[in-house]
Parts: sequence; C-alpha cells; structure tokens
Amino acid sequence: MLGLLSAEGILKAFRRLLQRTPVYGAYKALGHYPDYWYWILRGRPPRSPHLLKQKVVREYGEKFGLKTLVETGTYYGEMVAAMKSRFDRIYSIEYVPALAERATRKFARDEHVRIFCGDSRVVMPEVLALLNGAALFWLDAGYYGWVGKQGDQQRLSAELEMILSHPYPHMILLDDAHGLTGRDGIPSVGDVKAYVESKFPQRSVEVEFDIMRVTLRG
Ligand SMILES: C[S@@+](CC[C@H](N)C(=O)[O-])C[C@H]1O[C@@H](n2cnc3c(N)ncnc32)[C@H](O)[C@@H]1O
Repeated sequence: MLGLLSAEGILKAFRRLLQRTPVYGAYKALGHYPDYWYWILRGRPPRSPHLLKQKVVREYGEKFGLKTLVETGTYYGEMVAAMKSRFDRIYSIEYVPALAERATRKFARDEHVRIFCGDSRVVMPEVLALLNGAALFWLDAGYYGWVGKQGDQQRLSAELEMILSHPYPHMILLDDAHGLTGRDGIPSVGDVKAYVESKFPQRSVEVEFDIMRVTLRG
C-alpha cells in the first residue's frame, strides 16, 4: 500500500513537473487514445473522452462547411492542436494568462491561429467582429465554475445570445452538458433548450455524448 502510494506520489510530482514544460500538451495528447479505449470498455458512459470531442468538432465543421473555429477555454491547446489542419482560421479565448501565453507561444508559427487572453464573455464581441461568415463555436470554458471563478452565472446565456444574434448562421457545440444541473442557480439542459428554441425559433438544441449542439432547424 505504502509502495503504491509513493508510486502515485512520484507520478503526481512528475506530472506537475511536466506541466511546467512546453511538452505537457503533447504528453496529455498521448493519453487521448488510452482514454478513448477505456471509455469504450466502460460501455460509453455519458462523459466523453477528448478524442470523441475532437471527432464531433471535426464532423460539425465538415457537415456545415465551416472553416473557422472559435473556442472558449484554450487550456493546454489540445483542441487547437487537433483542429489546426482542419480549419482555415482558429480563434481561442483563455482566461488564465499563463495558459494563454503558453498557447500563444505554442502556436506562434501557425498564422491562422490566434489566442486571446481574457474572460470569454468580455472578449467574444471582439472575436465576433472578426468573422465574415458562419463559424463553428466550441464552448468549453468551464461555464459551471472553474478555477474558483463561479460568479458569472449569466456567462453562458450571454455568450449564446451574442453568437445567435450575430448575422451569420453559426453552429454551437457546448462541452460538459452534464454541468447543466438545474441546481444552485445553474440552468438545466431543458432550461437552455427552452430558452434558445423560444428566443431563436429557427434553432434546435440536442445533447449527445455530453455535448450540447445548437444547430439550424430542418
Ligand atoms: C476544460 S478546459 C478547456 C479544454 C479545451 N477547450 C480542449 O478542448 O482541450 C477549460 C478552460 O477554460 C478556461 N476558462 C475558464 N473560465 C474562462 C473564461 N471566463 N473565459 C475564457 N476561458 C475560461 C480555463 O482556464 C481552462 O483553461
């Protein structure tokens, strides 16, 4: 037991050390395939692995002919790295300055990738102003509490409203739909669906593999 614990401790320390290096994103990406197979082995539980999320983002881009990807929550840049050869332009917004700086360095050579630092609710109008056609949005910025920042319960609805009121028919994927619990001031999946479909009747909202999908009806 003691041996196991110390092995676990060593692994954690190794991980923390790696986190400070530029190769951490690549190290995390190495875990995507085992993660995916483990998810299959467990009978495809609701929370989906990153590889499946990448597949959904890729498929929506292809299905709707969208060549621009907008992401909220860059984190270690895993989605940007996976999608950078699939989209002509990628804008990704990250709240934590150290993560945004790291991603900016990581994608410095990719001229079609731009990382923004700030709160996605605040930065979103600037990104929307850069668009000249429909884009795919990957909303993945811990909308239900992240790094202790739980204050802005309206951020999701504010961003949905900005994107859906924009003149282009953008498609939206929202990760971690299980976070829409309907408790403690957080809306439920049904609340978001009712809000979007009543305010924007040409839109439909579905959830599959823990990803909420806001598309055009019909
Ligand atoms: C789950 S991770 C994103 C994973 C990434 N989208 C991917 O697919 O690999 C959530 C990220 O959102 C960031 N974040 C949290 N609140 C934010 C906000 N208000 N605006 C922008 N980013 C935010 C966090 O710092 C974190 O890096």
